[in-house]
Amino acid sequence: MPDASFSDRLLGWYDRHHRDLPWRIPPDAIAAGARPDPYRIWLSEIMLQQTTVEAVKPYFRKFVATWPTVADLAAASQDEVMKAWAGLGYYSRARNLKACAESVASSPGGAFPEDEAGLRALKGVGAYTAAAIAAIAFDRPAAVVDGNVERVMARRNAIARPVAEAKAEIRKLVEALVPRERPGDFAQAMMDLGATICTPRRPVCMVCPVKEDCAALAGGDPERFPVKSVKAEKPTRRGAAFVAVRRGDGAVLLRKRPESGLLGGMAEVPGSGWTARTDGETGMAAAPFPADWRLAGRIVHVFTHFALELDVHHAEVDGAAVTPDMWWSPPAALPHEALPTVMKKAIEAALPGATRKKRDSEPA
Ligand code: ADE
Repeated sequence: MPDASFSDRLLGWYDRHHRDLPWRIPPDAIAAGARPDPYRIWLSEIMLQQTTVEAVKPYFRKFVATWPTVADLAAASQDEVMKAWAGLGYYSRARNLKACAESVASSPGGAFPEDEAGLRALKGVGAYTAAAIAAIAFDRPAAVVDGNVERVMARRNAIARPVAEAKAEIRKLVEALVPRERPGDFAQAMMDLGATICTPRRPVCMVCPVKEDCAALAGGDPERFPVKSVKAEKPTRRGAAFVAVRRGDGAVLLRKRPESGLLGGMAEVPGSGWTARTDGETGMAAAPFPADWRLAGRIVHVFTHFALELDVHHAEVDGAAVTPDMWWSPPAALPHEALPTVMKKAIEAALPGATRKKRDSEPA
């Protein structure tokens, strides 16, 4: 089957079955001459580095409502950006996001570069993201290869090695498929195919627009691809967290994490370090001050490189002499603090519902 036919069939399918996404310009509008806003494409791609399309949607909508242009984001306070990002993870990316917005907004013309090399020079923009922005925002014939596309290609060509070892081969194969016309739609069509049809489990090959090309399907077991690599298990670390609640107003004691390192600059409840050792200071000894601490429960949070088990202790206190890096966050303010998901889980273990944003009609 010639390669042109692959992109023709894929694009024909995309015209009919593309996903509606808040940052996407649909193919009929593109055909009528509409162009995406590079700011929105960049923002969505940075967010999508972190998590799923469904999880990104509300964050994306909030960001573009609050900061409609790259100049608005550049002028925002770092704290506000961190708060809006809280929950998406990898907080260094929120810092890079702001730094990147500042450099674009202050560049001559105040616009995003249009080619991969120029985009790649921006903070937080790696090879994949540069290719995605070049293709989607500027219709450049870039080969956009993310995990979805790797899976599609591993199946199409029945690649016998794990994708981690076949990256160069997959890139070459994609480069050969990118059409001269509509490369931006092609990149998004490949993503949609991987997300909706060529899924990790139970791919729906019967409705696949390019099933005739698929070596894995011809072999009878598409789910065997991509072949797995033997992966080391994640280590577990342990620690303790202390949710101190002030009697009277119900304020929770928080502190700011160091600017550098994991969850840098985010808010947390006081606690121990997180250690792989079982004999470390992960218990009551790490309490910020003496109080009637009770164990509220244990939460587990999985980071990229380790899993964390946190014992959550809870006490009501009459206030306490706290260090200058700490503050009391009243119940109405708590849901708006820059708390990473792990800390929300810890606080929720002691105070169910406390970190959830309240609707206008609900009491704070
Ligand atoms: N994953 C990464 N980028 C994406 C995009 N632009 N559309 C859908 N899924 C994506």
